[in-house]
This record gives sequence, C-alpha cells and structure tokens, in this order.
Amino acid sequence: MFSTAFLDLPPLQGASGTVTLPGSKSISNRVLLLSALCQGTTVVHDLLDSDDTRVMLAALRQLGCGVDVAGTTVTITGLGGRAWPTEAIEFFMGNAGTAMRPLTAALAVQGGDFKLKGVTRMHERPIGDLVDALRELGCAIDYLGNEGYPPLHIGQPKLQLDKPIPVRGDVSSQFLTALLMALPLAAQDRAITIEVVGELISKPYIEITLNLLSRYGIAVERQGWERFVIPAGSRYQSPGTIHVEADASSASYFIALGAIAKGDGIRILGVGADSIQGDIRFMDAAVQMGAKITSGPNWLEIKRGAWPLKGITLDCNHIPDAAMTLAVMALFADGPTTLRNIASWRVKETDRIAAMAAESRKLGATVEEGQDWITIHPLPHRHFANALAKGQWQRASIHTYDDHRVAMCFSLAAFNADQLPVRIEDPKCVAKTFPDYFEALFSVAHTAAPNIPVICIDGPTASGKGTLASRVAAQLGYHYLDSGALYRVTAHAALQAGLTLEAADEAKIADLARSLPVSFEGEQVLLSNVDVTDAIRSEQGGMNASKVSVLPAVRTSLVDLQHSFQRLPGLLADGRDMGTVIFPNAPLKVFLTASAAKRAERRHKQLILKGFSANIDSLRADLEARDARDMSRSAAPLMPAQDALQLDNSSLTIEASVEQVMVWWQSRQVFG
Ligand code: C5P
Repeated sequence: MFSTAFLDLPPLQGASGTVTLPGSKSISNRVLLLSALCQGTTVVHDLLDSDDTRVMLAALRQLGCGVDVAGTTVTITGLGGRAWPTEAIEFFMGNAGTAMRPLTAALAVQGGDFKLKGVTRMHERPIGDLVDALRELGCAIDYLGNEGYPPLHIGQPKLQLDKPIPVRGDVSSQFLTALLMALPLAAQDRAITIEVVGELISKPYIEITLNLLSRYGIAVERQGWERFVIPAGSRYQSPGTIHVEADASSASYFIALGAIAKGDGIRILGVGADSIQGDIRFMDAAVQMGAKITSGPNWLEIKRGAWPLKGITLDCNHIPDAAMTLAVMALFADGPTTLRNIASWRVKETDRIAAMAAESRKLGATVEEGQDWITIHPLPHRHFANALAKGQWQRASIHTYDDHRVAMCFSLAAFNADQLPVRIEDPKCVAKTFPDYFEALFSVAHTAAPNIPVICIDGPTASGKGTLASRVAAQLGYHYLDSGALYRVTAHAALQAGLTLEAADEAKIADLARSLPVSFEGEQVLLSNVDVTDAIRSEQGGMNASKVSVLPAVRTSLVDLQHSFQRLPGLLADGRDMGTVIFPNAPLKVFLTASAAKRAERRHKQLILKGFSANIDSLRADLEARDARDMSRSAAPLMPAQDALQLDNSSLTIEASVEQVMVWWQSRQVFG
C-alpha cells in the first residue's frame, strides 16, 4: 500500500497482463457463515482478508467450527449435525456490520447464552429493526446497553413460525439478509415466510444472498421484492468448494484499463460475466464505449476495441459505484458522455458528482453537472499521426476526498495523450476496498523508460546517501537501488568462489556479476537466498567492493541489473556513478558530501551502536583510501555529474537533507 502524502503517476503508454483482484467483502462473510451452518467441510477460496472477515472467523471458532486458514483459502468444518454450544459465550464483533447482523440472527434462531459486543462505534449502529423481527418470531434478545443498539444478549427462543415475519427493508438490506440466512435453520418441518415492510433498498445485495443460499441448497421463493418463502424441509448443504468472487466494482478499473490502454489485453482473475454482483453490469457500459470483453468462469479479458472510445448516454442507477469509472473513460471518447440518474453520488463518501467534475476540469476537460447527472466532454486522444490533437491535457494534482473510488478512477488519466504525469493525493484512501490497487496497476501498466523518473544520489563513502535515498524513496513511494550493495555482493561472491579481487580474475568476476542471484528484502541483502547483510556491510566488505568496482568488465556486467530497478512509479538510486553513467538522463541528480572528519565520526557511531569496536582515526584513513581509489579509477570515477546539485550535509540533520531533496524534486514536478 502507498501511505505517502501523494503518488505521482508517470505518463503511461500501455498495459498487458493478469491481475487477481481481492475478494468481495459482502460475499466473503456470507460464505463463511453459510459454511459454518452446514454439515461437513467447505473449502473457501479467495476469501478477502479484512477486519470484517477476521471478526467472523474468530466468532465461528468460538462456536466450535473447524477453521483452518491457509492464505486466502479457508477450510470450514460446519456446525450442522454437531452439538450446538450450551455454555455462555461472549463474542467481540469489532465494527464489522457484515458479521454482527447475520450472526445475531443465526444465534438467536438457534438459541443459547450469548453476548455480542463491539467497539463504541458498533454500539452506535442501529440493530432494532432486526431485533424486532427476531422477537416477532419468538427469539429471546435483550439490549445490554441502549434500546435498539448493541451490545445484545441472546437466550433460548420459543419459535412461532406460522405467521409471516415482518422486517423493514427501507433502512438496511442487511436485516433481510440476516433473516434469510438464519431461518433455514428453523424450516425443517414448515415453510417460513418473510414479509418486507417499506420499499426494499439495495436489491442487488439481496440477489447476492439468494444466490449464495441456492449454492448451499436453500431455494428461497421470491415473490416480487415483498415476500420471501423458505420452503419446508430446507437444509444447508455444503457446496464442498466455493470461490469468493472478486469485487466487481474493483474490476471496473481494470476493465477500463483494458479499453483505454494499448497492449495485448488485460486478464482479470476472480470474477466473470456471470458474477452475482450487480456492478458486473459495468461491463455492458464499457462494451458500449468500445471495450472488447470475453469471459469465462471467474475471469474476464478486456482489449481495446473502438479507439477513441465512444461517448454514451446512460442511466446508471443500477451501477452507481462502477459508473464513476465511466466518467474517466469519457475523457478518452469521441464525443460527450452523459451519466444520468446518479443522485446517490451526492451522498456517498463525498459528493461524487462535484468531485468528478472538479477533478476532470483540473485535467482540462469541460464538464456540466446537474442534481443527478454529469456530462463529460472528452480531451484529445492519441491517434495515429495526429499530433495536432495534443496540448490540451493539463498536469493535475487530483484531490481524492478520502474516497477510494476517486483515487482509482483518476489513475487512468495517466494514459493522457500529452504524456503528462498525474498526481494522486492521499493514495492510501484506496485501502477501503483495494489496499494494493496501485501495485496491481503498476504490475500491468507500462511506459517507456525515460518516462519513469529516477533521482540519483551519488557521493563519497559514508556521506549518508543510503539513508537519504531510502527516506526520499519512502516519501515518494518509489523503488530504491543501493548500487553499492551490488559491488559488495559481487566481491563477496567472488571471494566465496575462490577468486582474487584483482584484474587477473576480472573476466571471471564479471561472469559472476552478470547473473548475480541477489535479492533485497527490506534492509536485508540475500545472495542465493542466504542472508549476507552483515558480511557485506563490514568495513572490509566496503574495501573489497571498492577493489572489484575498479574493474571495467565488472562494472559493465552490472549495468542491466541496475537498469532493471527503474520501475513504476519511480526510482531513487544511490552510488558513485548513478548520475554520470547508469542514469545519465535522470531528472534530478544530487551529489552528497560531508567532511571526512564528519563522515568518520558518523561511521564510528554506527559501528559502536551495532556493538563493534572501532577506532575513529583508522576509520577516517580507510574512508579516505576508499574515496581516493573510487575517484582515481579510470572506469566511472567518483565525481559529480555536470548537472548534479551539490549538497553538503556536514551540519544538516537527516530530516533537513530529505527536505532539501524534496524541495528540489517538487520544483521540477509542478502540478496544477
Ligand atoms: O556505497 P557503498 O559504500 O556500499 O559502496 C561500496 C563500494 O562500491 C564503493 O566504495 C565503490 O567503490 C563501489 N561502488 C561503485 N559504484 C557505485 C556504488 C558503489 O563503484 N555505483
């Protein structure tokens, strides 16, 4: 996840490959509870890992369910046919609404001695309508705090199931879902009827519930949206194996990506055209705009079809969340797009009509809006040999209003014809439904290397390059290359192979370096999966590195490896020749220095902290010897690049140095 203040997306040019999307939250918790109510074992694949599912799993364990978690696959051994717990149990539901409501209903229908509590916010979320319905059918439920709110106590019911059970449908469809999942437990010898009072909202979510119930052997008879009959003799049956569908709203960004980006197409794993989620109908709108979509069980494949996309007018009431993605596709169309019947956008995480209009205008688009509609006029698209179309997109810093969907939508603007970067503010807001959204985007999007920014930080030994570079990388969400570590590892591998570090073995060391099995895991450096961090970080390791780094063939064979670190969204590279040789076109180069005395002092402190004994004078002598070798060698000698900015940090704190580099970088990356 990117927890930076902003994320700068370089201009993107194409996309190909496969993304696996996280599981849908609504489906995950329904499937867990249904599996728990069955007899036998259910293997649940692709479960979403979130607060809500963790709460549900903990509760199921307390009830005596078998729960075996292996990554996103969870095996549930159900309670059906087993003794229902008689001892008192207290459940902690956190703030997980999708666990609290259905569990309350299931526990109340079965009966026991149960307490359900949550965090303070959970105790402020109404549950009275569900409790009323459950009491109506004879469940014993008491409020332990305020009337109408959790915490609750559940006792032994005296079920009366002959009359229809009324439940309000106009507050939350979750109450109806809870009853639909609980009542099959009581329908062995009689049919049970539920009657919805008031206009039922969020019907697509009830469709999901009915669909999943049928997968577990319960065929609910739906009479309009007013009456639901659970037939006599209903009994939960495990489907054996079940896959949790990926979130269909999350899929919309990758469907749009496939329609907008040049490439071999995008394959989405986890959700197919036969999805039980309402938002999957976004597909139809995307096809209308030009996307080519094929699908199978649990997958979708999207290719660019019509280009530019086609402007459309659409009633979006059935896909309110995914429709936001159409607004961004509209920027790449051949004419205006109007999205109608979207009044609900005004009352979501933010006023989404206002947000989509304001941010599209920042990009240069003309937008009209009304109380429940929005019209977006396209910006010039990339056309074969149509250079004239360029020059109208603006560099924009997209405000995201703590709304995950605004952030994900506008990431697609990075495909603009003018090849401008796009800044997304507060990128971590995507965590609400898709914490790794940007990682997923970068795993399939591509662009020419010169578009991917590199910031180089070169300088002498112990000037603090590594600390500075890794801190700036963390602030920008960029990758980090510690090129010195590559020379250190090369020297280490050469010595292990019985080579000397002299010119006589140059060709052999170069061979080793060309396919160096090195990898980085946080602060750790691994060689053939063995942790060599301590071995290479010693003073001797630095000296050895300096020796092999003199050999031109060794330097050459490390070039490709270093270039391979230039990946989306950007790179911080530190070393001696980052700006002069490896990334000569980098848009920002810093040459970091500090006096030899200061550097020896810092290194001394570091070593003492790590528990090594060290002598400051010999450290200084070593540093100076290493610098002298690095500066005097003929291959890529240590020196500032011509266009490097010098930073002497002898009397600066680390924070001040980071701040200086950020100021330099921001002054080159101006967003409107
Ligand atoms: O930066 P670090 O101290 O880890 O580098 C160890 C040695 O590797 C340096 O003294 C230098 O000789 C060599 N090196 C290099 N070019 C780089 C990075 C390091 O020659 N880009």
